[in-house]
Amino acid sequence: MEKTFLMIKPDGVQRNLIGMIVSRFEQKGYKLIASKLMTITEHLAKTHYAEHDGKPFFNDLVSFITSGPVFAMVWEGENVIDMSRKMMGGKTNPQEAEIGTIRGDYGVVMHRNIIHGSDSSESADREINLFFDHAELQQYNKNIDNWLS
Ligand code: TYD
Ligand code: MG
Repeated sequence: MEKTFLMIKPDGVQRNLIGMIVSRFEQKGYKLIASKLMTITEHLAKTHYAEHDGKPFFNDLVSFITSGPVFAMVWEGENVIDMSRKMMGGKTNPQEAEIGTIRGDYGVVMHRNIIHGSDSSESADREINLFFDHAELQQYNKNIDNWLS
């Protein structure tokens, strides 16, 4: 089953949005298979965001993402990579994200956009392995598996 890496950034944690965000993905029908509240090291931040190394916002992004705890998660379900990007808002800038989405409802500025989500199956694999050991990923059944199939 498809898996994605989602992470509530330090602004989302500070603004008490963890429960609401987890709830949206649960209610959508996706399955949480791993999560942890953690503080990202500078090394992990630079590895995670390596594609942006050298861009004007890179240093601020690294210092922001390491500034306080994040809530890292792995979610599983049908088309979860693309759907969770849609649920986040589709756009990086909250001002362009539709109302009704996470960034659209709760974000105000680009560099404080509340949540990260993998943008492809390659980045999902890479990011899940960066943040979690394989043994931390739970395999379990839920009643939801029946009505979704
Ligand atoms: P990016 O991977 O382009 O966006 P997304 O989170 O939608 O996949 O950028 C990573 C993060 O970097 C983004 O969530 C916020 C920050 N960022 C800026 O602060 N300024 C910018 O101009 C861009 C493009 C991103
Ligand atoms: Mg990205």
